[in-house]
Parts: sequence; C-alpha cells; structure tokens
Amino acid sequence: MGLQASSMSAPPEADRSANSPGGLEYGVSFQLPLHQPVMLREVLEWLRPGSGKIIADCTLGTGGHAVAILKEIGPSGLLVGLDRDSEVIEVAKGFLSQVSNPFRLFHADYADLGQILQELGIEGVDGLLLDLGVSSYQLGIPERGFSFQLEGPLDMRMDRTSGLTAAEMLRRLKEEELARIFWEYGEERWSRRIARAIKAHLRKATLDTTTQLASLIERVVPGRRGRIHPATRVFQALRIAVNRELQGLEVFLSTAYKFLKPGARMVVISFHSLEDRIVKRAFMEGFKKGLYMLLTRKPIRPSQEEVSKNPRSRSAKLRTVERL
Ligand SMILES: C[S@@+](CC[C@H](N)C(=O)[O-])C[C@H]1O[C@@H](n2cnc3c(N)ncnc32)[C@H](O)[C@@H]1O
Repeated sequence: MGLQASSMSAPPEADRSANSPGGLEYGVSFQLPLHQPVMLREVLEWLRPGSGKIIADCTLGTGGHAVAILKEIGPSGLLVGLDRDSEVIEVAKGFLSQVSNPFRLFHADYADLGQILQELGIEGVDGLLLDLGVSSYQLGIPERGFSFQLEGPLDMRMDRTSGLTAAEMLRRLKEEELARIFWEYGEERWSRRIARAIKAHLRKATLDTTTQLASLIERVVPGRRGRIHPATRVFQALRIAVNRELQGLEVFLSTAYKFLKPGARMVVISFHSLEDRIVKRAFMEGFKKGLYMLLTRKPIRPSQEEVSKNPRSRSAKLRTVERL
C-alpha cells in the first residue's frame, strides 16, 4: 500500500466552542454523532501524552482519541495518525484541524509505521495507541458492507484500494475454509452448516449483498439465540478474515518495541478474545526479553457508566506496557 501524507498542522483560529447536540465531548465543534472513543480517560491516563510528546495513533479512525491527545501534546508535540481507511482520515482531519497543534496523517497500514517514522525523521515515539477493529462510523455506512442491518455490497475491506471483498472471499474459498473462518474468528457453532448453505446458494445464484447473506444465515441457523442476531458472528468473522486483522496485529506487535523510546508507552484496546490473547502474549514475550515493563497484568475494562452510555465498549480490554 502506498503511504499518503494527508495533512500537516492546523489553522490558527480553531473553534474550541460548544459541542453540537449529540456530539462527543472533544472540545471542538462538529455536527455528527460519530464513533465514541472507547476508554478515553484510561487511554490518556496510561499513554500520558504531555507537552512536547510525539504520539503515534496507529488506528486513527474518526479521531476521537487523537483529538484528545492532540490537545495534550501542545504546540511543541506531534501527533502521527495512521489508518488504512482513507475515508475516516478525511473525517479525522476535519476535527484535528480545529486544534492548533501539529499533526501528520497517513493513509497506511500500521505495518508501515517504521517507514513513516523514517520519512518523518523520527527515531522513536513517546506513546503508541492501537484501538482495534472497525469504528461505528464505518459500520454505519451501508456501502462499506460491514453491517448486516444495512443493505449494501458485501465489501468489508477497511482499505478499499486493495484485497478481496467479502463477496469475493465467499466465492473463492472452499466450504471447509469458510467454515474454519466462521468457527475460529466468530466462534459460530453452526459454522459448517452456514458454509454449506452459502456454497449451495452460490452454485445457483449470486450472493453480493449484506442483507442477502444475513437472511440466508437466518434461514439456516436453528432458532434465535438471545438478543444477538444470527448473522453477528459470521459478519465479524468475515471482516477479520477480509482484513487479515489477526495476522497483521501479531506481526506488528512483534516489532513495535523498535518504535518506542525508552520510557515510552504502548496502549492497545482489543475487542475480542483472539485479539486480546495476541496482545497478552506479545507483551509477555517483550517482558521476558527485557524490552517492556508490564503495566497491566490483567486487562483494564471500561467502567459500568461507560458501558451503559456506549454499549460498544462492553467487550473492550486495555493493556499497556512501558519500553525499558
Ligand atoms: C475502533 S476504530 C478507531 C477509533 C478511534 N480510536 C476513534 O476514537 O475515533 C479502528 C480503526 O483502525 C483502523 N484499522 C484497523 N486495522 C488497521 C491497520 N492494520 N492499519 C491501520 N489502520 C487500521 C480501522 O480502519 C478503523 O478506522
């Protein structure tokens, strides 16, 4: 993927006034209720983005955490923001531009962080944030195909400039491979039955939209389990597979220490057990090699208050290390 610098610094006359109704408390004004940054207070507490610090937000999203960090680092700091989704970067840029402190944004996978820091002439950062998964903003756009509740193409790529779409993956992978994905990444107990039904359907017809897939799953899964829609797990599994989320995370975490100055902190928020296991293992390995001090032996969870205000935060687990 090509790296693309999206923006530098901000206009001096930032609007720091009121939040719009339904907006988040970013301290900047905007119109839409967007992705609500998860465990924002805890992120700031552990990352400690003080004056003059260089912080890399490697999963920028629409900039919820990044705006708060940008305010903390002041005019002598630098926020480096990366996202593999060019559309969210544009949204984040709008918010960040309302804070008059320096930032640089890149349309890039976090795997490319080393190359980006090299281009910027930065040897190490003081803090690094990974807030994994998709944002509510991406989920809410029907054309992105992440949501089974919104009619749209079965795309699910975070970076729409490369890779297979979910629809292509359903066509190309064998039934057993699909079943494995649904089972491993979604813990879907009807994985084989669903994979079989998808392949049978594809022999006679097309399967190109979110709602087509959701209703096919509804038809083949017996009964409805509790409050969660029967398509939830398959959609999660497909998204993880399409974006190769777990492989990318594992590789990145094995080299991330190189980007941290001594005393720098890395904060990772994960949203399901497979991700958390990878984070836990990578941090433990770094600890054993004498690279990190473990700041959280057990993951930190969002407060009850946050979960009731933002149900999406309920599965969040935050882990953090300090570079020795
Ligand atoms: C949960 S959202 C981040 C939300 C953000 N912290 C906020 O408060 O607005 C995760 C973001 O990470 C991005 N992302 C996921 N995997 C990535 C990767 N390998 N490299 C770069 N960005 C990635 C997604 O496109 C998404 O925008």
